[in-house]
Amino acid sequence: MGEVTNVTEYQAIAKEKLPKMVYDYYASGAEDQWTLAENQNAFSRILFRPRILIDVSKIDMTTTILGFKISMPIMIAPTAMQKMAHPEGEYATARAASAANTIMTLSSWATSSVEEVASTGPGIRFFQLYVYKDRKVVEQLVRRAEKAGFKAIALTVDTPRLGRRESDIKNRFTLPPNLTLKNFEGLDLGKMDEANDSGLASYVAGQIDRTLSWKDVKWLQTITSMPILVKGVLTAEDARIAVQSGAAGIIVSNHGARQLDYVPSTIMALEEVVKGAQGRVPVFLDGGVRRGTDVFKALALGASGIFIGRPVVFSLAAEGEAGVRKVLQMLRDEFELTMALSGCRSLSEITRNHISTEWDAPKALPSARL
Ligand code: FNR
Repeated sequence: MGEVTNVTEYQAIAKEKLPKMVYDYYASGAEDQWTLAENQNAFSRILFRPRILIDVSKIDMTTTILGFKISMPIMIAPTAMQKMAHPEGEYATARAASAANTIMTLSSWATSSVEEVASTGPGIRFFQLYVYKDRKVVEQLVRRAEKAGFKAIALTVDTPRLGRRESDIKNRFTLPPNLTLKNFEGLDLGKMDEANDSGLASYVAGQIDRTLSWKDVKWLQTITSMPILVKGVLTAEDARIAVQSGAAGIIVSNHGARQLDYVPSTIMALEEVVKGAQGRVPVFLDGGVRRGTDVFKALALGASGIFIGRPVVFSLAAEGEAGVRKVLQMLRDEFELTMALSGCRSLSEITRNHISTEWDAPKALPSARL
């Protein structure tokens, strides 16, 4: 294998290394996977309007997220069951995030518990929450996360039912027998039964609360003092309600195109959500970010930061902690270069005018020749 020089290359390496059932679970999207392709394709339709002859000898990528200073606006999204990718799973991801001075979000469905991840050492970590029908389970888990030093809850709101992922159905996807959903082990909810379709889809149907609604966002605030990020917003309408419901931030996400197919790519939905949030809470994005240029485009459209999902599991499968470190480093280097070549020395200098999109009115066309 030659030297890995960009984030996308890890996908092919992971495909070689992983059992088909595992690779397909990580890679796939819902149904026709239109949104899956679109999440990446849409970035390629946004172009730069770089500014020149600006002293870019010093580039500052640092930012503050919910009061926490990090080295760059590139963070780690929650992805479930990371020990299927590598024996060190979430431990490796936590260490890599911490080494890069950025934030890791731990999935509810991690194969390592909140306490285990906390024990890997210092680091700013968020906890992604799926709301179970049994609210006592939820309360207990949120308390454990808070006690273990997690700093925020990312409440996933796009999964009242699991999206239809056809390869998981064909493969009869289920958690390998040597692993458990560690956060739920003591609660008898740590195992996933085999099913006639996707074992995960059956697990969700059995355990996850389909009644989840905005009043539960308020309820969550009564059981924790951690700030709540609403993960899975795609419209201005919902951005406004999220703000009204006390969310501390919004994550524009389509769950890596694994839930409702034919929703727009997140980069296409971002600007509308930013407008809906009216500057009252920070708006983040995940989905399809594979290049430093993608990070820049998201920030130019109003995001305060981005999260990456699949690049983490694929690099983890390829090289463990070193792979995740390398992914974060490559994105960091590319993003820094993009800033320099666009004439931006700090995140606050990245503006809407540094990019052009298909929905922009033509700016300075030659005078009409009609
Ligand atoms: C996810 N995602 C996810 N989201 C969540 O809220 N809880 C979870 O447990 C998971 N698990 C998960 C597993 C795998 C394998 C993937 C690919 C995704 C969604 C994730 O947080 C994020 O929204 C997307 O992964 C972002 O898109 P990219 O970066 O994968 O394109």
